[in-house]
Amino acid sequence: MRIFSGVQPTGNIHIGNYLGALRQFVELQDEAVPGGRAEPFYCVVDLHAITVPKDPAQLRENNLDVAALYLAVGIDPKKSTVFIQSDVPGHAELAWVLMCNTYTGELSRMTQFKEKSRGNESAPAGLFTYPVLMASDILLYDSDVVPVGHDQKQHIELCRDVAIRVNNRFGDVFVVPEGRFLKEGARVMSLDNPLAKMSKSAENQLSRISLLDDEAKIRKAIMKSTTDSEGSIRYDLENKPGVTNLINIYSALSGLSVEAVERKYEGVGYGAFKNDLAEVAIDALTPIKKRFDEIRPSEELKAVLRDGAERANEIAARTMARVKGYFGLGK
Ligand code: TYM
Repeated sequence: MRIFSGVQPTGNIHIGNYLGALRQFVELQDEAVPGGRAEPFYCVVDLHAITVPKDPAQLRENNLDVAALYLAVGIDPKKSTVFIQSDVPGHAELAWVLMCNTYTGELSRMTQFKEKSRGNESAPAGLFTYPVLMASDILLYDSDVVPVGHDQKQHIELCRDVAIRVNNRFGDVFVVPEGRFLKEGARVMSLDNPLAKMSKSAENQLSRISLLDDEAKIRKAIMKSTTDSEGSIRYDLENKPGVTNLINIYSALSGLSVEAVERKYEGVGYGAFKNDLAEVAIDALTPIKKRFDEIRPSEELKAVLRDGAERANEIAARTMARVKGYFGLGK
């Protein structure tokens, strides 16, 4: 069973990314499947990052930051292939072939494109075709399973549609992948506006908890988070989105079920609950930050990325040879 997923190197990797995606990456690398263990590929998707202008020096640092975070959260390079997207030319090559099999109407319906390009007459073409590059990432490795947060659901559907379209024309060119979403954590909302998802790019730093935040920042963001005037710790997505989001985060970080969190905090006020949540978050993130600080400057990180790119290129080259054969490309 092949697994593929990616994270954009935009800095500020937050607990939404962790709870929706990275946590699954770690679990899946130990998943037993008939004939052995799952084979995961975890990529730092820097080609996706340049759909909006990026400072080059900063981008390269961010690439290494995200790769180091992968290892810090527990991805084991002996079990998983960790690499940087632009080190494998097959991603961009296959994307072109897929673009020729994707309709502009399909891309126009992508909600992320609509949100990001709103009011911008001159949005880059890369922002529009971004989901095709994502489909290429997945299909290049014959991936069966793609662990992601809920916001990527529409992109996974598009990937499946394109794969099925090509298969209908030629036969079994691509493996048709499945998205994998966690129940708690697939949709972590912003702390200052629980109706919007927690995002790396939101201006208000207190809207998110980044994995590398210090204790004071974590406490401040949680204590200032938006709740309501009812005063009870109760899961109710419709009427209490702020408290519900905090319960979800508590549950996902502590391993307690949502019901257990509700029971534990019956009759307790928001201040005390938030205090405890801050401690839960600090306990969960401190070891990650400590490992990150060790791994980030190490030579080992560079070696992991070199080996990862080599392995990824091997698989990618095989897929590209197959795809070129079907489409009649090359000699
Ligand atoms: P990115 O970098 O925005 O986010 C990385 C992962 O984190 C998840 N995520 C969330 N989960 C829960 N709550 C949130 N608030 C939240 N915010 C983000 C995302 O769903 C994602 O799983 N296009 C992708 C990167 C990508 C990719 C791929 C993913 C490129 N190619 C191929 C899977 C397979 C993106 O921008 O994720």
